[in-house]
Amino acid sequence: MINVAVLGYGTVGSGVVEVINTNNDIVSKKAGDKVNIKYVLDLRDFPGDPVEEILVHDYEVILNDPEVEVIAEVMGGVEPAYTFVKSALLKGKSVCTSNKELVAKHGPELIEIAREHHRNFFFEASCGGGIPIIRPLIECITADDVQEIVGILNGTTNYILTKMSKEGLDFDTVLKEAQDLGYAERNPAADVEGYDACRKISILASLTYGKNVDFEEVYTEGITKITDVDFKYANKIGYSVKLFGKAKKSEGKFYAYVAPVMINAEHPLFSVNGVFNGIMVKGNVLGDVMFYGSGAGKLPTASAVVSDMVDAIKHLNDNVAIDWSADKLELTDIKNSKKKFFVRMTGDAKEMESAVKSAFGESEIITLDDLSGEFAFITDIITEEEYEKAAAGFDNIITRIRIE
Ligand code: HSE
Repeated sequence: MINVAVLGYGTVGSGVVEVINTNNDIVSKKAGDKVNIKYVLDLRDFPGDPVEEILVHDYEVILNDPEVEVIAEVMGGVEPAYTFVKSALLKGKSVCTSNKELVAKHGPELIEIAREHHRNFFFEASCGGGIPIIRPLIECITADDVQEIVGILNGTTNYILTKMSKEGLDFDTVLKEAQDLGYAERNPAADVEGYDACRKISILASLTYGKNVDFEEVYTEGITKITDVDFKYANKIGYSVKLFGKAKKSEGKFYAYVAPVMINAEHPLFSVNGVFNGIMVKGNVLGDVMFYGSGAGKLPTASAVVSDMVDAIKHLNDNVAIDWSADKLELTDIKNSKKKFFVRMTGDAKEMESAVKSAFGESEIITLDDLSGEFAFITDIITEEEYEKAAAGFDNIITRIRIE
């Protein structure tokens, strides 16, 4: 029998307990030993819940019990998670976490401590919910020079954007639904301002390129400025609006950003809707490979945590090498990256057309029959810097969305 503990009995923590208990035969068979949850840590009490019998309020009980070999940290937030995880690894216990804030901030250090102690620090559930993406990056996509990793990495915002697009619902109503479904972060700004996706792309880029991407240096823009009118234009021209996290290597330079983008039906991520996430990796010999699945939610996320626990049990005294050093990956300012931009402007399309074209290059003008006083256009392929310079010459721009 192998004893494990779960830190946190919230949405994901209760999912981890449910998955281990419901699928115990399968999980134990895959792990090669009977998996037993010896403790669940939470500050709260859960009267009447079966977990009551194994509930502890004091982390020291778990830390100082030599029978606990593997810990699932599913509390979220940097502290006290960081202190708990670090002390567990130093004690020679393996840790599996869904905590993207912890991994983005302290990943290299915790990976190194696990390596020194011949144990493991796994974090499959930190990106893409239930989608296997971390392990494929560590163990499978190892023969390629990866040019690009791009994804819809936040289930809450994809759920919101999809509902706004397809059902015309307003932002706040859909956000509330996502919260009720257990997708959203405690502080919804983490989702809607793009901070959650920023941490995830930083983790994925660090694993892809083997050096630390500082999430605080990644250009990040959320979805709060996207409106129903943007969707009217997007629907007219066959585009969808998605929140992308992207890291790219070009001519030896590295770029990373999180921002809402417009994509058309030819883009492989076009049909990734609702709470689903999709991640595409572009290798120089592999070509494109896509990962798709539930990006948030209790059981999909718990499935990824438990799969890590199984792996940690299979490699109990054997560290699985993870190529993510503390050395910083220097990011280049995205102002040099090139793309088209979708722009909305007040005024009359016919009157403005020549000014638009001389500033933004050969542009496609778009108008909506039921909307007067404004129009939109798609610019030529220009750099972010060129866009900013051209846009500075107009005081009637309503919004702009990048096109990928
Ligand atoms: N709030 C996150 C999301 C949870 O919506 O994607 C999963 O990381």
